[in-house]
Amino acid sequence: MPHPAPHHRTERLDQDHDGIRRAARLLQQGGLVAFGTETVYGLGGLATSQRTVKHIFQAKGRPSFNPLISHFASAEAAFAEADMAIPLHDMARRLARRFWPGPLTLILPRHAESRLCQAVTAGLDTLAVRVPRGRAVEDLLRLTGQPIAAPSANRSGRVSPSTARHVLDELEGRIDAVLDTGPCPVGLESTVLDLTGPHPILRRPGGVTLEELQEVCGPITVAEHDGTDDLRPTAPGQLTSHYAPSLPVRLDATHVHPHEAFLTFGGREVQGAAPALTLDLSPGGSVEEAARRLFASLRQLDQAAARHGLTAIAVAPLPAEGLGRALKDRLKRAAAPRPTDPASPPA
Ligand code: TXA
Ligand code: MG
Repeated sequence: MPHPAPHHRTERLDQDHDGIRRAARLLQQGGLVAFGTETVYGLGGLATSQRTVKHIFQAKGRPSFNPLISHFASAEAAFAEADMAIPLHDMARRLARRFWPGPLTLILPRHAESRLCQAVTAGLDTLAVRVPRGRAVEDLLRLTGQPIAAPSANRSGRVSPSTARHVLDELEGRIDAVLDTGPCPVGLESTVLDLTGPHPILRRPGGVTLEELQEVCGPITVAEHDGTDDLRPTAPGQLTSHYAPSLPVRLDATHVHPHEAFLTFGGREVQGAAPALTLDLSPGGSVEEAARRLFASLRQLDQAAARHGLTAIAVAPLPAEGLGRALKDRLKRAAAPRPTDPASPPA
């Protein structure tokens, strides 16, 4: 992937007092700062600044019609941007009490006087808001004192970063700084729940499981996604892959083709020929561990591709419940046809 000429040096900041202060200062000045949340690293910038948000889209190479999540230090600050005169207002507050700070994003109608810029919501009349968890990110948001727009800190269409190293591999020279908060404890993005209508709709499975949400909400409709990272309704034929490593991905594999790597779980083995390389997401069969390791494992297999002559990644069947739902969703998106594939449908 050719990187354009770097526009400046990217500072690497430690998650100590000075590092967090420097990150907050850069954000307040309109800079781009990546930081770890409990889910994945985000590429942050002031959500109130049209100019800064445009820079976020440019740094990622993200299409400007795909809206961003705004991050807040508290539920009060998040809900202040939303129009809470909605049928599900009480559910929103109960969800916030139970899961924030944590890996849940709520879609709410935008308040008429919201300070968020138009670019952050891609001109929609709805908002995506969340209060992330983690000592450093919570301090950073409090110190900055502003809503921070942050998509995952990867180039558009690529695997989300779960370490500061991953961020630098993709965005070095394109952002002002990365706050190194260590590896992300959840490893998959937040759950996106749409509360704008009469009933809750799960738009993206993630770090809070459907089962946990149902304890608070009762029945939830699960939206079928089309393989894109854009959660708004899209025209047919726009199926493209996201969360994608360079190698093609094949799901629910019980055997491997020659030159395929095998990404497995809980010690599951293949029948027939031995894989060119095997990587177990969690030998002990923990879906939490598998979630934490998924994105790093996909990157690792990509890097091993040349050395081992790999042509694809075959993925073992995975559990469908709990975090398994988000895990399978990310792999399904990674396996969707690529825009550059000869086999993919015309856009
Ligand atoms: O865990 C996460 O959510 C991470 C960390 C950094 O917070 N962020 C993240 O952002 O995954 P991003 O931009 O990669 O994914 C945001 C998703 C996209 O699929 C986008 O389409 C959707 O949220 N989204 C944002 N605003 C929306 C809205 N108003 N209505 C529907 N979907 C929306
Ligand atoms: Mg993303």
